[in-house]
Amino acid sequence: MLDRINALLKEVEVLHAKNAEELEALRIKYLSKKGAINELMNEFRNVSADQKKEIGMKMNELKNKVQEQIKRLKEAFEAQGQSQDEVDLSRTAYPVALGTRHPLSLVREEIIQIFSRMGFTIADGPEIEDDWHVFSSMNFAEDHPARDMQDTFFIEHHPDVILRTHTSSVQSRVMEHTQPPIRVICPGRVYRNEAISYRAHCFFHQVEGLYIDKNVSFTDLKQVLLQFAKEMFGAETKIRLRPSYFPFTEPSAEMDISCDICGGTGCAFCKHTGWVEILGCGMVDPAVLEANGIDSTIYTGYAFGMGVERITNLKYKVSDLRLFSENDVLFLEQFESAH
Ligand code: PHE
Repeated sequence: MLDRINALLKEVEVLHAKNAEELEALRIKYLSKKGAINELMNEFRNVSADQKKEIGMKMNELKNKVQEQIKRLKEAFEAQGQSQDEVDLSRTAYPVALGTRHPLSLVREEIIQIFSRMGFTIADGPEIEDDWHVFSSMNFAEDHPARDMQDTFFIEHHPDVILRTHTSSVQSRVMEHTQPPIRVICPGRVYRNEAISYRAHCFFHQVEGLYIDKNVSFTDLKQVLLQFAKEMFGAETKIRLRPSYFPFTEPSAEMDISCDICGGTGCAFCKHTGWVEILGCGMVDPAVLEANGIDSTIYTGYAFGMGVERITNLKYKVSDLRLFSENDVLFLEQFESAH
């Protein structure tokens, strides 16, 4: 019996299999119920007591060896299988699926292009801000409701660390170390503590505009915005300015454009008014100029702020804001040929 075990030990030392089927056959040959090892086990009962120890140890050695070898072969096959998956040499080289640009990036880029042609440069600021740049320097009263917990994300135990709720904070960031003339646009992400739905999200994107110089008037603002609307939505587009209120502009207005969907005749999208709101704007409040180190007796300025999602919704007729942040390829692929 000892000889047979030794012979088997030699045999399993050089065990090899070409494929998974051969490996399975080996497993059955040695390890199954009717396999070689079980057969030896059955015979083991008849081994005399004085040999039991020696033969028992040899049998254990054999069993461990077989298990080890089969495991090694199995792992080798698995590794091979994986590397075959990684490099599929039979695959054709073309066509290669190209990624698509995100609709919000496309629209932000287009907005930047339009204002760049009108002489605006890009300014940037942090998304994690302090109260001064988001609110106080922008002439928000101490008790203004926008500071309320419901709108602003605060960092726990750090009342002066907030996520900016609008890109107007970048106005202040620019003014604090630049003297006029200033002509910038500030694209960026903003955060508000809103319940997420098809029409609201806890973060979205804005593009802020700021122009400060001598003799800047509301007429200048209106002309720049009209030009923007025509370039963005087509030469036929009309604009309408409605009086509004913002703490940092005086006078303030909200701008509507003639509805792109019905052409102004009235539809469900424009709630049958023929107009849709796209941005807020106004003349920079002298208090804001002063708070940021600019002499309001010499300079005047205008500012505007628009939502990139809103403009994208209009331009591409996207009706659910959540689509912008879900990374749904079927949605994103629709923008492949947009530019
Ligand atoms: N910051 C305003 C908002 O988030 C938009 C705005 C910007 C209005 C600049 C006027 C001037 O709603």
